Amino acid sequence: MRIIDQLLLQNKAWAEERAALDPDFFLRLSQTQRPHTLWIGCSDSRVSVNVITETEPGEIFVHRNIANLVVSTDFNLLSVIEYAVDVLKVELIILCGHESCGGVQAALTMPDSHELIFVGTWLRNIRDIYRLHRQEIDILDSEEDRVNRLSELSAREQAHNLAQSFIIQRAWQRGQPLTIHGVMYSLKTGTLRPVAEIASPPSALGPAIKGGSKQ
Ligand code: CO
Repeated sequence: MRIIDQLLLQNKAWAEERAALDPDFFLRLSQTQRPHTLWIGCSDSRVSVNVITETEPGEIFVHRNIANLVVSTDFNLLSVIEYAVDVLKVELIILCGHESCGGVQAALTMPDSHELIFVGTWLRNIRDIYRLHRQEIDILDSEEDRVNRLSELSAREQAHNLAQSFIIQRAWQRGQPLTIHGVMYSLKTGTLRPVAEIASPPSALGPAIKGGSKQ
């Protein structure tokens, strides 16, 4: 069977099953969405948001790109954040990095002249983080450890990039409750681990930043 036919068949079975369990399910969802969370994660096929968080359609607004980067000139990402924060009023933004990220690995190992021009250009954002933490990363024995450490450092960096964005700062200034969490997903265990938390500031002194665990 062709993959498309298989997917259509599985979708039909799923829709029928959901409707049988909860006859109003699709009607409710078709009327409005009220997601509590914006998820910014990697495009990696193994990090499926609703599956790993056991959430339902309608709960999580999603943006994914290679290596879960928050780049201040990315209008695609910025429009997602703006809509999620200003219109949907999400209370939580999760920035999710993951172990064994192919994007991070490529940033560490791929030469500049690599034929994947767009991927290479995009991943330069990670190389900048690598340069900042090079000593800490280079002493690690295995490539796997180096990739995972850089992924975590990047996840924290992206969470802070997010906190500094105009959209988030504006939301905090008007008193909107909104917390940013940086997390790392382990492909080996299927678990999420917090690595950063940035809450709305109690005063005008700027966001309260808590460091995460180093594990
Ligand atoms: Co990845």
